[in-house]
Amino acid sequence: MAAPLLDVDGLSLEFRTRSGVVKALEDVSFQVAKGEILGLVGESGSGKSVSAYAAMGILDAAGCVTAGAIRYDGMAVTGAPEREVAKLRGREMAMIFQSPRTALNPIRTVGDQIGDVLRRHGGATRQTARARAVEALAQVRIPDPARRARAYPFELSGGMCQRVCIAMALACRPKLLICDEPTTGLDVTTQAAIMALIVELCRERGMGALLITHDLHLAAETCDRIAVMHAGHVVETGAAADLFAQPRHPYTASLIAATPAAGRTLDAIGAIPGNLPDLRAALPPCRYRARCPRALGVCDADPLPPLGSGHGVRCHNPLGCNPMGEEATVDHAAA
Ligand SMILES: Nc1ncnc2c1ncn2[C@@H]1O[C@H](COP(=O)(O)OP(=O)(O)OP(=O)(O)O)[C@@H](O)[C@H]1O
Ligand SMILES: [Mg+2]
Repeated sequence: MAAPLLDVDGLSLEFRTRSGVVKALEDVSFQVAKGEILGLVGESGSGKSVSAYAAMGILDAAGCVTAGAIRYDGMAVTGAPEREVAKLRGREMAMIFQSPRTALNPIRTVGDQIGDVLRRHGGATRQTARARAVEALAQVRIPDPARRARAYPFELSGGMCQRVCIAMALACRPKLLICDEPTTGLDVTTQAAIMALIVELCRERGMGALLITHDLHLAAETCDRIAVMHAGHVVETGAAADLFAQPRHPYTASLIAATPAAGRTLDAIGAIPGNLPDLRAALPPCRYRARCPRALGVCDADPLPPLGSGHGVRCHNPLGCNPMGEEATVDHAAA
């Protein structure tokens, strides 16, 4: 089998801060293949953005990889010299951030900003960069792209700015696109249009995409596979259809139950009990242990089982395949 485009392999990462060591990621693994969209979901603070920044080689200086590796198309990103990783960014892999306005330079026209990327990474001259920037805007379905290329970010709506960011990210035809909450804060119509565009470009170009989102409906509709993160662990991974139809980790099941759906009343939407643990404190092998209604004695003592391939789960007592019987193993007193 060909090497995955992005291979995050057993990555552990911590931030050394004044208030302590934040164990932000522990033994995190996921892959993105060519032409595939992998969704990364989980509550706020679970380590989604940190994983993306590590893959792009743009981690905060306090961040330190303590184990594992990230490979892009077989090439090590972790431990590689910054100038090597910088060559990959923009040309091979690109990222779309959550807030499009802050990702753009407010005092330069959007056409010039796209042109900069094309000249830096795509070998374009000043003249060709201008024409290609207009083409890039047309490709993300911006009406009247020649006029819009001369606009400043403040003259465009939030949805238009995000399209500009996508145009900039796609200008050099990256093989991997990382999207961190690309449509948060945009209205639903714009969100749908932008997601459709990302999917289309993945299918057309065979680009791989990592889609970070809080929105499980969006993930279910858009992604081929999903990785669920909780407190710095990937707790479950699998084909999107399987994972949503038959979640195996109790956290995934709670996350799905906590998602509003058409026809579901507010009372029927479950809140996930408890909070994420403090990542600066000493942590048990399973970081969901204190919140989990299915916890067993083994969860305190033994390391998490490996994720495995296919529909994988890091849980000693997953849903659906419980040799000990559902009722007998639920240890509410200890939870
Ligand atoms: N620069 C940093 N210094 C210290 N801790 C950090 C830093 N960046 C992230 N963290 C910590 O790492 C953990 C994971 O953060 P991350 O931003 O990846 O979460 P997330 O899943 O993207 O959340 P959200 O959905 O809110 O964007 C959090 O506990 C966060 O406080
Ligand atoms: Mg984030």
